[in-house]
Amino acid sequence: MAAMLAKHTTIVFFFTISFFSVLASADHQSDYSEVKFSRYISPSSLGLKQEKLSHLHFYLHDIISGKHATAFRVAEAPSTNHSSTLFGATVMIDDPLTIKPDVTSKIVGRAQGMYAFASQSEFSLLMALNFVFTEGEYNGSTLSVLGNNKVLSSIREMPIVGGSVIFRFARGYVQARTYSNTQVHTIVEYNVYVFHY
Ligand SMILES: *[C@@H]1O[C@H](CO)[C@@H](O)[C@H](O)[C@H]1NC(C)=O
Ligand SMILES: *[C@@H]1O[C@H](CO)[C@@H](O)[C@H](O)[C@H]1NC(C)=O
Repeated sequence: MAAMLAKHTTIVFFFTISFFSVLASADHQSDYSEVKFSRYISPSSLGLKQEKLSHLHFYLHDIISGKHATAFRVAEAPSTNHSSTLFGATVMIDDPLTIKPDVTSKIVGRAQGMYAFASQSEFSLLMALNFVFTEGEYNGSTLSVLGNNKVLSSIREMPIVGGSVIFRFARGYVQARTYSNTQVHTIVEYNVYVFHY
């Protein structure tokens, strides 16, 4: 009896599965034949007119300790503290961007993201950050920077890989220059050159 019941259950189960897989495949076919997921549109339909070139200038404050610290080491390799180049150290930042070198001058935004010591032979950082602007027409817009930063070079250039709101379709580059440097507080001057609409 139990064996018969089991057999019966198996048959019912088999038909149920087949029925649903027929349904599922029919469903898939209609997905592919009727639903498009891409189309061409005109730039004007997004309100895009003439591409503009902007130059932004500000100072970034990277403060690694103390009450007003803005940069925190969040990860490292077992060998990082024995490495002359701090290879593997990864630092998360929320650095203010100010209009003048003085940290108490007007804040135009923040650099939020991370940098990591990426070379075993020199001080060379992988930078992955967003400039999150909070001032005037740029309030709420962001620029994303991904690049290599050889911190001991006088001028370091990094690509802008994109942006949001005012900076949609952004492309361009930034130039970073160390303005001053103490044990805890580094001030970096940024010149940003960006194409956007
Ligand atoms: C390495 O050095 C940093 C900074 O001095 C310290 O915070 C961290 O705890 C050290 N890590 C190890 C594994 O000793
Ligand atoms: C920026 O936008 C936010 C959110 O809309 C608003 O609360 C803030 O006051 C704005 N800041 C400036 C300086 O306009």
